Amino acid sequence: MKFNTNMHRDIQSIMFTKQEIDHMVYELAHQINRDYDGEELIAAVILKGSMMFAADLIRCLTMNVKLDFMQVSSYGSGTESSGVIKVKKDLDNDVNGKNVLIIEDIVDSGRTLSLICEDLEKRGAKSVKIVTLLSKPARRVVNVKVDYIGTDIPDEFVVGYGLDMDEKYRQLDYVGILRPEVYM
Ligand code: IMP
Ligand code: MG
Repeated sequence: MKFNTNMHRDIQSIMFTKQEIDHMVYELAHQINRDYDGEELIAAVILKGSMMFAADLIRCLTMNVKLDFMQVSSYGSGTESSGVIKVKKDLDNDVNGKNVLIIEDIVDSGRTLSLICEDLEKRGAKSVKIVTLLSKPARRVVNVKVDYIGTDIPDEFVVGYGLDMDEKYRQLDYVGILRPEVYM
């Protein structure tokens, strides 16, 4: 595998500029501020991809927010997850009786999120909602209710603004499509 010394050269096209992302984040925050008026929430950031989105989003929220992190991996055979998640890093907060807002970077099959939701509901959360910056509806396998979506995107593999390919490209401030030769 060969990489350019400047990773911007590995990007075939920009899907969303920083300015477009900012606009989506403001729109999402506006809806969340309206819906949770007077309520407190636990922001459950799903590591690692969501960290940039979460950092920008929570700075636009006006209610009391307890910032928390969760990292999971799903067991599976091949590329299919089995329906069992392994919690690699759990939330610090007890969610019993609390409003939880899951902050996700992108919803693909929906498997990971549906398992996390189920798990948080079992722990007695008062409410569990999901906000994602991006969603690929064409890839959905599990019917999970995503409450706030920045935008739908086509079935393309994207990187940047926290999203990675093999742990790389997270630091791009835009979302872009990788050149196919980068995979080879
Ligand atoms: P799901 O359980 O299939 O919905 O998995 C969603 C997770 O897959 C996301 O949180 C990302 O970590 C990863 N993912 C899905 N699509 C992409 C992509 O286009 N670029 C980078 N990561 C992705
Ligand atoms: Mg992720």
